[in-house]
Amino acid sequence: MKFQERVFSGMQPTGSLHLGNYLGAMLKWIDLQKTHECIYCVVDLHAITVWQDPAELRQAIRQVTAAYIAAGLDPEKSILFNQSQVSAHAELAWVFNCVARLGWLNRMTQFKEKAGKDRENASVGLYAYPNLMAADILAYRATHVPVGDDQKQHLELSRDIAQKFNNDFCAQIEAAGYDGGDFFPLPEPVITGPATRVMSLRDGTRKMSKSEPSEMSRINLTDDNDTIAKKVKKAKTDPEPLPADTKGLSGRPEAENLVGIFAALSGSQKADVLAEFGGRQFSEFKPALADLCVARLGPIADEARRLMDDPAEIDRILVDGADRARAIAAPILADVKDIVGFVHARP
Ligand code: TRP
Repeated sequence: MKFQERVFSGMQPTGSLHLGNYLGAMLKWIDLQKTHECIYCVVDLHAITVWQDPAELRQAIRQVTAAYIAAGLDPEKSILFNQSQVSAHAELAWVFNCVARLGWLNRMTQFKEKAGKDRENASVGLYAYPNLMAADILAYRATHVPVGDDQKQHLELSRDIAQKFNNDFCAQIEAAGYDGGDFFPLPEPVITGPATRVMSLRDGTRKMSKSEPSEMSRINLTDDNDTIAKKVKKAKTDPEPLPADTKGLSGRPEAENLVGIFAALSGSQKADVLAEFGGRQFSEFKPALADLCVARLGPIADEARRLMDDPAEIDRILVDGADRARAIAAPILADVKDIVGFVHARP
């Protein structure tokens, strides 16, 4: 069966989004709005798989929503909502808990990392996390999922779950009127390009991350202009001038990172940046990069702050998005209930 193209992705509700999130995910999502029907979900159900302070969680859901809107996500055009408002996610996740196999989940590297040594003490939710992620995507029959490298394994699991559901229930799926036994699509990753992998400003070999202790390692989307400029100017570099071409960046991770950030923020390629700055010192390049960061990120921070001044309006946007999401998911979930053999009233 040919599925209608539909984009779904989810972001964790964290109050502190940074340049890595912006260049790695947000720009791609915003771009996809031009060509696709897009559903974007603040994944609060996923968030509580590890302990969250309730007041902070509520605040973070609104903050991440504000940041995405400020960056250009259009909540009229796309659907933007928080996961817990649409019960189809949790309902379908339960069905998928019964489709996915323990052996599949045991291979998930993110669970191993997040659970650490004390696996006995990890929540059951953290273990079943990838099943919920599959439900997020498949509740809308989404076909395209923009994700970073770290989520590729989870997306493969979503495909396995979709396939096993299609196989296990193929007779019922045919009976429900679906040709060829394809009830769920096998969702494909839309991997964000290599140029957008943003590294720490303190160590060019590590990803920019909100969990790195040093604030100087990342540019937060809430930083004011002076802070942004200071962080760029203090970013780690090597003593050599910038090379003339991209080959000269190999073995120079900090230089490569800063050039990559410049290219991504200016909508060009690393080679273009080096054509302009090759042979020049970092003392010349960094102020130009700082200005560019301020010009691009400053207005987003301002707009996000303005939106946060009216949390009731943010909540209204999320309720509206949830209503529209529910309308898409409801008939799909009703079909799932028929296929599995539940008794229910069709919506
Ligand atoms: N697990 C993703 C992350 O941590 C977030 C997420 C949840 C997601 N559900 C999703 C991403 C569905 C894509 C599709 O980044």
